[in-house]
Amino acid sequence: MKLKVGIIGAGYIGGVHAGILARDERVQLTAVYDVDRERAERLAHAHDAQVAAGPTEVIERCDAVYITTPNTQHVSLALAALDAGKHVFCEKPLATNISDANSVFIKADQSKSVVQVGHNRRFAPVYATLKQLLTEKHTPHSAHVKMNRGELLNPVWTGDPSVTGGFLYETPIHMFDMMRFLFGEVESLHAIGSQHEYREIDDFSVLLKFTSGFHATLATAADASWLFPFERVEVFCHHATFVTREMESLVCSTNLEGHFTEQSMHQLPREEKWGYVQEDRAFVEAILNDAEPPVTARDGLMSVVLVNAVYESVRTNTTIAFGRVPLIAD
Ligand SMILES: NC(=O)c1ccc[n+]([C@@H]2O[C@H](COP(=O)([O-])OP(=O)(O)OC[C@H]3O[C@@H](n4cnc5c(N)ncnc54)[C@H](O)[C@@H]3O)[C@@H](O)[C@H]2O)c1
Repeated sequence: MKLKVGIIGAGYIGGVHAGILARDERVQLTAVYDVDRERAERLAHAHDAQVAAGPTEVIERCDAVYITTPNTQHVSLALAALDAGKHVFCEKPLATNISDANSVFIKADQSKSVVQVGHNRRFAPVYATLKQLLTEKHTPHSAHVKMNRGELLNPVWTGDPSVTGGFLYETPIHMFDMMRFLFGEVESLHAIGSQHEYREIDDFSVLLKFTSGFHATLATAADASWLFPFERVEVFCHHATFVTREMESLVCSTNLEGHFTEQSMHQLPREEKWGYVQEDRAFVEAILNDAEPPVTARDGLMSVVLVNAVYESVRTNTTIAFGRVPLIAD
């Protein structure tokens, strides 16, 4: 018996996941729905799936549902799928406010369903290798993280905060999850933001302190160019520096002469280089093995908590401290 998987949202990333799942012999792509019927038809026909009349039909006909709609439309679909007892892969962000993210977290916690959030960076070989280096060989002291977007024009909805939840909930939320993955839990943060190109704050500088004593800066701009690398993590250890360049390469310098080695992921297929293949396999494996997925609803919630705190810090010009996240049901 194959695992029946459905897709709600047949745009760019829905197509990426569908292509990967269609090559997984444990999976049968069953139903696809998109408000744009032509998109749903194109994706369904490419993978021998059926076009569903609505999200409810996808949920009814599948064991697991991929939610790949724009950001503010994740929560109601995730809750509906969980109510029906189905497994859920929800693209990032899990939600665009703490209360919604918490409601998905609680429902996931109380259910037997596997809920995984699409923080794919964790699976990208560049970041998985960096994590291994920091866990096994080098204790990190501090870091600088940056993630720019060139524009908020494509897809069109990325420039509409009523659909994204705000710029930080779009692409930069990846780096909040990445910082927790690499450096642990955040104790406090202070942020400064400014508005230039769009109808929202589009440039941010954030100073973060972690519970381990580690500290980092994060810079992110929505109106930068797409100059390579738009995403980079620099980690400083005891006479060692590690630098990532998007998902392309990891540069390591562990001496005092400035010599370095570079591990290039250049030749990997993009879907593997970016971790999409690995995250989809991990989701299927968690379902088949009745195991916890590698990126949980709690991880999705925590990223939302951090992004929300950055907006609050900018608005109030205060440092936000996380004693304990009060909404989480322990
Ligand atoms: N993890 C990643 O690296 C990554 C990359 C890209 C996008 N994403 C996330 O995936 C989501 C989709 O992004 P995208 O780039 O694929 O956008 P997209 O615009 O290409 O696709 C979204 C699709 O959803 C459809 N849609 C909108 N509302 C819907 C609804 N209520 N029901 C069904 N379909 C609906 C649209 O018609 C469109 O086809 C976003 O949340 C985005 O943040 C994640």
